[in-house]
Amino acid sequence: MQPIAVRRATIGDTDAIVRLWREMMDLHQEIEPAIWAMRTDAEEAFRMYLAQCLQDPDHMIAMAVRAEEPLGFIHAAKVQRPPVLEPPVEGIIHGCCVTRNARRQGIGCMLVAEATKWFREQSLTIARASWAINNPLSGPFWVAQGFRPYQVSGVCAVAVEADANSDQTTRLL
Ligand SMILES: CC(C)(COP(=O)(O)OP(=O)(O)OC[C@H]1O[C@@H](n2cnc3c(N)ncnc32)[C@H](O)[C@@H]1OP(=O)(O)O)[C@@H](O)C(=O)NCCC(=O)NCCS
Repeated sequence: MQPIAVRRATIGDTDAIVRLWREMMDLHQEIEPAIWAMRTDAEEAFRMYLAQCLQDPDHMIAMAVRAEEPLGFIHAAKVQRPPVLEPPVEGIIHGCCVTRNARRQGIGCMLVAEATKWFREQSLTIARASWAINNPLSGPFWVAQGFRPYQVSGVCAVAVEADANSDQTTRLL
């Protein structure tokens, strides 16, 4: 069997990244349907966003491939922190997915290593990833990569007034 390689993504990887992104989003929609509900044109919007990110030096997208068969991707970026904090910028992982049949072979680990290498090259000393508490795959994975949970995000449904927009009252979280 051919070895697995990690390389930087190009615009030619768009279809493969969209498939992997869709796998990640479908899983999140199963876990928390109301939070991760997507627009009908989500895929088109993601393609446009991806094209921008692939050209932006503050973003890094890498692919894991076996003989050019796409197995996973990671999207990392440099982001500003609130203006009172030091250091002013940090690294963030926006997305990471390994296709179902290729999991638990160390590919996620290779992708995070690529992102970490890029963070180091960018002189970023803080790396952040967030994950859904109810995703059984992500928490153990990120902890195994050295990330520790440090903050909890809460979510709360805000009821809309029935007579103002009645059909939205059913969309409580
Ligand atoms: C999370 C994900 C990227 C991990 O990729 P992977 O290639 O399977 O991960 P690795 O094989 O490199 O795993 C490295 C270590 O992480 C931990 N880990 C990974 N998946 C795990 C799981 N399902 N349960 C428990 N621990 C897990 C283990 O310690 C593992 O080492 P081990 O296999 O020697 O025990 C993959 O499961 C995935 O794509 N999931 C769907 C999308 C998703 O949830 N993405 C994260 C969004 S925040």
